[in-house]
Amino acid sequence: MFDFFKSKKPVEAEKIRFSYSEKEVLRDISLSLKKGEIVCVVGKSGSGKSTFLKILAGIISIGYEGKIKIFGKPKFFEKSKVGFVPQEISFIPDLSIEDNIKLIGLSYGISEKKSLERAEELFKFLKIEENLKKKPTELSGGQKVRLNIVLSMLHDPSIIILDEPFVGLDFENRRLLWHFLEKLRKKEKSIVLTSHLLNEVQEHADKLVILRNGKVFFNGNIKKLKEKLKINFIYEIRISKISSEKYEKLKKFCIYKDIKIMDFYENYAMFGVQSEKEKEILLNYLKNIDINIGEKSFREPNLDEIFLSTE
Ligand SMILES: Nc1ncnc2c1ncn2[C@@H]1O[C@H](COP(=O)(O)OP(=O)(O)O)[C@@H](O)[C@H]1O
Ligand SMILES: [Mg+2]
Repeated sequence: MFDFFKSKKPVEAEKIRFSYSEKEVLRDISLSLKKGEIVCVVGKSGSGKSTFLKILAGIISIGYEGKIKIFGKPKFFEKSKVGFVPQEISFIPDLSIEDNIKLIGLSYGISEKKSLERAEELFKFLKIEENLKKKPTELSGGQKVRLNIVLSMLHDPSIIILDEPFVGLDFENRRLLWHFLEKLRKKEKSIVLTSHLLNEVQEHADKLVILRNGKVFFNGNIKKLKEKLKINFIYEIRISKISSEKYEKLKKFCIYKDIKIMDFYENYAMFGVQSEKEKEILLNYLKNIDINIGEKSFREPNLDEIFLSTE
């Protein structure tokens, strides 16, 4: 049988605009998400990431322009398909873990029994082995974050939206969480998240959406971002200290050749170049203007470095 539901994209947001009173925070933000896809929204603090996620999740449900469709339907019909994990902890500290589960389950219209079963399953996935009679405040930081995630997923949403889920987590807990997200991806869930940990995002996300000044600066995969920014390689060198005149000369040369000076500090320089050939051209130029070159490295950039050049 033709499955109408399956044929629709889990999320389609088109030209979302939003202002807090006078201040315009989002301008024409679009994002679409397939099944089994992980999309990461990246941007400086204050760039509107949380606001956008709250609009997608229906936490902010009025006052925005643009269209959001969840599986092809206007958002308010399909809220139950979405799970939102806010950055702030969402449980009630005075209730036991068990009562938190029951209460939040009920708010999704799920029976107590079902909520507990579902939580147990998620706890297994997320490796939480705690007595449910405990209060959530007795949990460690990493466990609190995981409980927060469990509580947002009791209704088994197809779309999971997580705002900075990695903040404050140590390496082991971050890995655990990435494994969990990968598991959800295998179950064809769609995931939108924000994170500052660009190197980790680079490994796991299918797509990046970079927000800058309220607009989408970039939308696509890492490979496309490298192409857009024209830095396929990083060329790092130790150099002799140079005069500001020479530096100005070098700067002009780089602009002319479309080479990015990504960092320049006393006797260290980092360039973003497109090819090995371009690196040779740069190297020749440095020799020509009598800059002494020491140790060199030529390698692929990581996401932090690519992001650095979008500033
Ligand atoms: N409730 C609010 N009222 C007024 N301004 C807000 C509110 N929440 C966020 N802002 C402002 O909107 C901008 C975007 O905030 P936010 O979406 O939280 O960005 P991010 O998550 O990328 O740090 C910021 O300038 C912030 O100060
Ligand atoms: Mg935020």
